[in-house]
Amino acid sequence: MAAMSFCHVSLRSPELSSVTSNHRTSAAFPSTTRSFSVSAAALPETSSAPSEQPVIELEFLGPKSGDAVNRAKAISGEKLLRDIMLDNKIELYAIYGKLMNCGGGGSCGTCIVEIIDGKDLLNERTNTELRYLKKKPDSWRLACQTIVGNKENSGKVVVQRLPQRK
Ligand code: FES
Repeated sequence: MAAMSFCHVSLRSPELSSVTSNHRTSAAFPSTTRSFSVSAAALPETSSAPSEQPVIELEFLGPKSGDAVNRAKAISGEKLLRDIMLDNKIELYAIYGKLMNCGGGGSCGTCIVEIIDGKDLLNERTNTELRYLKKKPDSWRLACQTIVGNKENSGKVVVQRLPQRK
């Protein structure tokens, strides 16, 4: 339903003569003024509110069973899994990775995670992953290569941290 607000508009009729200088137009107005009110209810309704973006919920397990479960949410297709984990202070790297990771450049192979559930909500393995994870299970991913969502899907992804320690 449209808002029930009213606005007051004053209209004046410009005289036929107007003067233009320096890209500005000035016009002389007669002294009479007509006033009327316009109801927004009479205007067609337009929606300027942005549509809701789909969200991916993430659950992070481990590395050991019994460790606390961490949770995060991300707008679908906006972020890499690595960035979501770092932004939410969810530990991604083992000791060597903490010291020597490539910063998400896909050249160290230390950001390995296992996707327990929700694989279909992620991008396909990249060529970098195919190289680093050649002999690893299909469920393993490099977090810095993994895009969470595709801007249209939503759902839940369950991630095992440090699957090599399981
Ligand atoms: S952070 Fe180096 S490969 Fe992912």
